[in-house]
Amino acid sequence: MSRRNIQLDEQNKLRHFITVEGLKRQMLVDILDTAENFLGLGARKTKKVPLLRGKTVANLFFEPSTRTRSTFELAAQRLSADILSMDIKTSATSKGESLLDMLQNLEAMGVDMFVVRHGSSGAARFIAEHVAPHVSVINAGDGCHSHPTQGMLDMFTIRKEKGEFAPLTVAIVGDILHSRVARSQIHALTTLGVTEVRVVAPRTLIPADVATLGVHVHHEMESGIKNADVIIMLRLQKERMQGGFLPSEAEYFKRYGLSEARLKLAKPDVTVMHPGPINRGVEIASNVADGEHSVILQQVTNGIAIRMAVMSMTLGRPEIEMGEPK
Ligand code: CP
Repeated sequence: MSRRNIQLDEQNKLRHFITVEGLKRQMLVDILDTAENFLGLGARKTKKVPLLRGKTVANLFFEPSTRTRSTFELAAQRLSADILSMDIKTSATSKGESLLDMLQNLEAMGVDMFVVRHGSSGAARFIAEHVAPHVSVINAGDGCHSHPTQGMLDMFTIRKEKGEFAPLTVAIVGDILHSRVARSQIHALTTLGVTEVRVVAPRTLIPADVATLGVHVHHEMESGIKNADVIIMLRLQKERMQGGFLPSEAEYFKRYGLSEARLKLAKPDVTVMHPGPINRGVEIASNVADGEHSVILQQVTNGIAIRMAVMSMTLGRPEIEMGEPK
């Protein structure tokens, strides 16, 4: 018997957003199209729409974040929701309160959505299985498993740059083994029909079974980025490494760093991406990160629109006319 996708409600609408895996192509396109509607809002004088007025969103970040946490806050504010950003360090979890007791207490305060980042893979799904029926959960990154809104903001950025997914060759370079972002990107790129998805990394930083996800594996940077339309660089997740995965950062940059010279191997109009935080001189040269092919800061801006899309699709009704603010 097939396991029901807990992300979908009875009408197959998005109720939670835990992972890109298992979602149909049309659902991903709906998220991208909804985000497109929100993108222009950032340029308006008043950046708000009333779609989530009366709803309360709680940000629960058990791991550090700059981009994801801030853009979820901005997205909730622009949708007119009330936003509660918990400081986990000073919360009663430090006095022994369990995660589920904390959630139940927040639900008792009227929270309608939890945005969760957690170091343990599966944490967001566990929470989604335990919340009240009217509450939605969005995964803002769980362990090495999934970072679905990052995956979708990357797809949004690629679509804006390239127009279509089908003809593209996309190379994802770096610490694939520990990267929740890479997993979400791979599921999204293959579902959206990209011609060729490559993963490029030393043998120590690639999961043994990654080819089963429909990607081509490269251990040499030169072959991995040759004629690529899009290169996505990833950070070395040292906080998740136990033991010697690498000889040194300098050696890593020599073999896998994206320099201007290496960039010439890709297509002349290559797009360079990175989910951040970037480590200049470790996985990417500063002049490439800031160069003409880089869309790293556009990714951050697009994150607000994608997070508005996912929040409104899970909790609100995006079909309600957005309306010009007064
Ligand atoms: N890309 C990303 O998840 O960045 P943060 O850790 O700053 O949220």
